[in-house]
Amino acid sequence: MAELTWSPDGEKMFEKLMEAVPEAMREMLKPKLMEILAARAAGKPATSDTVVRMVREDLPEPQKSVLIQALSLEKPGGKVPSANSDSSDQWTGKSQTMFKIMLNEVPEAMREVFREKLLGVICQKAQGNPFSEDHVISVVHEIVPEPFKSSILKKFNELGDFDPEIIDKTIARHGTTQDSLMYILHDIQDKIGYLPVEALSAVSNRCDINLSTIYNIVTFYKSFKLHPQGKHHIKQCCGTSCHLKDTNNLSQEIEKVVSGPSDTTLEKTLCLGCCDCAPVVEIDGRIYNGEEAKVKINSL
Ligand code: FES
Repeated sequence: MAELTWSPDGEKMFEKLMEAVPEAMREMLKPKLMEILAARAAGKPATSDTVVRMVREDLPEPQKSVLIQALSLEKPGGKVPSANSDSSDQWTGKSQTMFKIMLNEVPEAMREVFREKLLGVICQKAQGNPFSEDHVISVVHEIVPEPFKSSILKKFNELGDFDPEIIDKTIARHGTTQDSLMYILHDIQDKIGYLPVEALSAVSNRCDINLSTIYNIVTFYKSFKLHPQGKHHIKQCCGTSCHLKDTNNLSQEIEKVVSGPSDTTLEKTLCLGCCDCAPVVEIDGRIYNGEEAKVKINSL
């Protein structure tokens, strides 16, 4: 590598450039940029003009535009394709939330500039169509450098059909120790109605607890639900008395209702503790037996 010397203005411009680079990437990028500058300077001192030409000619988008702006070489706006970014109907699925997650990885001072540039790239990819989750993911893969890329993709995997703030607020309230895990899981289930796999991944990542450990817990305790629950909850007793006394085919009636259009969740359980009245079912927290149970089931 050719030796790099500086003119005073060149060194100053380079320092300004490095200040505009996110801190986590500075150490990694600095030697690479200096190598490019040394090749450009070809034994002469690198001037501010050398630095500017490197930014303009050697760096990829959107970093080039962002740094040009950070070095005050060009006023913001004007060249970026309009993305009408405030129009929520341009975003489909979780794409807008994903875009916000991606932007949150950018240092706050640079966020607005990156926002414009990244929207421009998504716009080009969408080619006039609404922005999709695939557009955002491909931008992350193609443009975002490590370690930000892995961090963003990990957060995308935590996105379910629920407000991600539920997880953040719950963990903020209980803390991230393993002792807090049961409280966190119960609270999340209360808010969402069940424990989606994305929520479990988010808890695993934030609390640094293995996902397998969390799965062991939520599958051991019956009170945790891993799937959305119906409006009505039937507990079908599979105990011996109920099985032997089910001469009126109550179990078949239950199967018929559950497989139909009613919004019902079925849970098969052991003895409900009222064998005298067998066969029995529990519907929305109340015990019914025999014909009464059939009538109730068919009214759901
Ligand atoms: S076996 Fe069904 S209540 Fe006991």
